Amino acid sequence: MAGRLENKVIIITGAGGGLGSEQARLMAKEGAKIVATNLKQDPIIAPDQAEDGLWKNTLSLVDEINQNGGEAIALPLDVTQDQDWINAVNETEKHFGRLDVLSNNAGIYYHAGLLDHTIEKFHQIVNINQLGILLGMKTAIPAMKRVGGGSIINFASIYGIAGAGSSTAYQGTKGAVRLMTKSAAMEFVGDNIRVNAICPGMFDTNLFESSVPKEEWQPLVSMVPMQRFGKPHEIAYGAIFLASDESSFMTGSDLVIDGGYTCP
Ligand SMILES: NC(=O)c1ccc[n+]([C@@H]2O[C@H](COP(=O)([O-])OP(=O)(O)OC[C@H]3O[C@@H](n4cnc5c(N)ncnc54)[C@H](O)[C@@H]3O)[C@@H](O)[C@H]2O)c1
Repeated sequence: MAGRLENKVIIITGAGGGLGSEQARLMAKEGAKIVATNLKQDPIIAPDQAEDGLWKNTLSLVDEINQNGGEAIALPLDVTQDQDWINAVNETEKHFGRLDVLSNNAGIYYHAGLLDHTIEKFHQIVNINQLGILLGMKTAIPAMKRVGGGSIINFASIYGIAGAGSSTAYQGTKGAVRLMTKSAAMEFVGDNIRVNAICPGMFDTNLFESSVPKEEWQPLVSMVPMQRFGKPHEIAYGAIFLASDESSFMTGSDLVIDGGYTCP
């Protein structure tokens, strides 16, 4: 039986992380050809290492997919760098002949109260979470036009919908991603390119573990009607839906996957 993403070529950014790696695995199982990209050196998580654990994760993820009968390659890509994007899209077209889907997944979190925000951290998070999304769309869209259309999945957050009472800069970037998504959706609807956002609730990944102190976890869980954090596959299946032709009448929308967090 054909997979839900048979022969679609998909670039995933931040593929070494919790949500990105699960998308790569499950999308490959659905027949997609995966271009798993990640920053080689993460200035936040591993500032002193030439190659950090998340890049190594990306390489072993690609091995795992290929050993399980899928098709994947790894490419270094810092989403804030124009030239990295151009190289990644060129390499994708050279290797797989086309680009159908971009999962604009890479992102960082900034866990601080407003009075503790610094200009440096503000610029860093805007560069990665917001400019990175824009550069991705800008570079991928011409390639998608060359094959008659495509689907872009931009990672926003429930914290681009509801206030959290902290992490103001992070929330600003995620709100911006939602509106950039709607704007791009309208601009390229005539090119058969759909652009949607995913808004995850709270998921226990590296992003969460490395920035939110353990003692804050339980109070956060208690705010979720389902009384638990999400699991990466619960985001990956949403991304598969948006990447596939099953979502063909959907553009400019938010897919909220949050255990009910935004209900009240
Ligand atoms: N985990 C959650 O609870 C949660 C909630 C809402 C939204 N999100 C969003 O989901 C996305 C994925 O998050 P995750 O939970 O998998 O986090 P993660 O930290 O596990 O993975 C993020 C990945 O992005 C990469 N990255 C960071 N800066 C980069 C850059 N400049 N260029 C390229 N790659 C870079 C990291 O190396 C890492 O591999 C993010 O956009 C995040 O904001 C996550």
